[in-house]
Amino acid sequence: TYVIAEPCVDVLDRACVEECPVDCIYEGGRALYIHPDECVDCGACEPVCPVEAIYYEDDVPQQWSAFTADNAAFFTEPLAGRAEPLGAPGGAAKLGRLGVDTPLVAGLEEQG
Ligand code: F3S
Ligand code: F3S
Repeated sequence: TYVIAEPCVDVLDRACVEECPVDCIYEGGRALYIHPDECVDCGACEPVCPVEAIYYEDDVPQQWSAFTADNAAFFTEPLAGRAEPLGAPGGAAKLGRLGVDTPLVAGLEEQG
């Protein structure tokens, strides 16, 4: 899978969303998250991000290594105010902006 790391936080450019052929990039509140099971590793999202937030899982820079598990956690853990995890919705567009983040992203200081 590909992973969205810290540079996306508070930027949310969304160019990646337009490129993804399987609509597996979901919008939280302060960042977007790639669904690790829905991503087909096409790589189309990676070069279009203006802040270089997207990496193949084996290439995530060390300082952002926690974001690999964190992208997955967005779907497997219940998020604030929600009883159930998102699971595998099968497409981000129909959900729109979810307005919630993982504890890791929610706890970051305001970026930029
Ligand atoms: Fe974020 Fe870059 Fe996509 S800033 S929304 S990962 S284009
Ligand atoms: Fe979509 Fe990027 Fe994966 S374009 S399929 S999230 S590599």
